[in-house]
Amino acid sequence: MPNFKDVISGIFNKASGGQSVLGVDVSSSSIKVVQLRKKGGRAVLETYGELALGPYAKMEAGQATNLPPEIISEGLKDVLKEAKVTTVNCGVAIPLSASLITVMELPKMDEKQLASVVPLEARKYIPVAIQDVMLDWNVIPNVGPDGEDSKKLEVLIVAIHKDTIGKYQEIVRQAGLQASFFEIEIFSTIRSSLDRGITPILLIDFGVSTTKLYVVEAGVVKNSHSINKGSQDITLAISSSMGIGTKEAEQIKRDVGINVKLENGELSNASFAVLEYIISDSKRVMLAYERKHQRPITKIVFAGGGSLLKGLGDFASERFNVEVKIADPFKKVETPAFLEAVLSEAGPEFAVAIGTALRKLEELG
Ligand SMILES: Nc1ncnc2c1ncn2[C@@H]1O[C@H](COP(=O)(O)OP(=O)(O)OP(=O)(O)O)[C@@H](O)[C@H]1O
Ligand SMILES: [Mg+2]
Repeated sequence: MPNFKDVISGIFNKASGGQSVLGVDVSSSSIKVVQLRKKGGRAVLETYGELALGPYAKMEAGQATNLPPEIISEGLKDVLKEAKVTTVNCGVAIPLSASLITVMELPKMDEKQLASVVPLEARKYIPVAIQDVMLDWNVIPNVGPDGEDSKKLEVLIVAIHKDTIGKYQEIVRQAGLQASFFEIEIFSTIRSSLDRGITPILLIDFGVSTTKLYVVEAGVVKNSHSINKGSQDITLAISSSMGIGTKEAEQIKRDVGINVKLENGELSNASFAVLEYIISDSKRVMLAYERKHQRPITKIVFAGGGSLLKGLGDFASERFNVEVKIADPFKKVETPAFLEAVLSEAGPEFAVAIGTALRKLEELG
């Protein structure tokens, strides 16, 4: 049975005021929940919690898993209890990998025409039968110099397989929750991690086994890309370069950060190889975007637990040569002062769950 030492949770004074809501993020390695309530026009943090899924799959905490819905549901129930969550009303994030996001270019037309043209055109981009997916789209507002082409429309297409939605519906239902929406994690992360701004930003979600890249301009997703390396690869590299187990390697990664020293005193290049891989792929995505749209990406924001790696910010800003920030999503909600430092540390890992909870709060008006 899983033990709870991998769970972090907190319970704060219940804020009086509006209804409590919950954001749920089921990732490959863990379940994260964040409970918020609106008070005086502000979102107030009521509780949050995280549960590692590894032990449910007879693996170590922090490792990526692929579990059936009923087991995930058990884990979700456990974390709800542990974090003393008091509401069943939630929104749920769906992993980017379970979705398809693309930007289509279409000739300019009105909304009515779009409604019939988009599903037909989307077939070209979606590898499964169109009736098997939930399709959503949005016209991207014209911004910047290339937006002045009045003959073309850019349309963001989002497709999720109906089976995927069914799986997540089942997970929350079995855990006794009521979900009013399922949104792809990209939108949750943007909501919690970025401030308003119009210049293009590269948002990097540095997760366990994948690193997800989103180019966001004026709050709108313009591009997304997934790299199949993540923070777990740093752990594995430390483990093999030092000849130690993954548990110990994980601890060293968290304690020491980027500059791991070998026994002979030399710097291990374990983390660097993984980071270089991720950074060079990210640079390609940046360059392609800059070339296509003729304007520079001037800022990079890291979210996801991987971005807690000590020394990452400086290393990345030197390699990218632009401003690099680590997201602090708990800043978007009111939190007890004595927890500020703890929450700023935990923040990047909770970027998705916080973003989902914020949308749920917006829903209440
Ligand atoms: N202080 C730290 N220093 C370095 N790495 C850390 C730290 N804390 C957590 N991590 C790493 O962050 C990763 C977990 O991040 P996160 O919770 O964002 O991933 P995830 O959402 O489960 O993954 P994915 O989104 O790819 O499915 C783990 O690999 C963990 O080792
Ligand atoms: Mg994640």
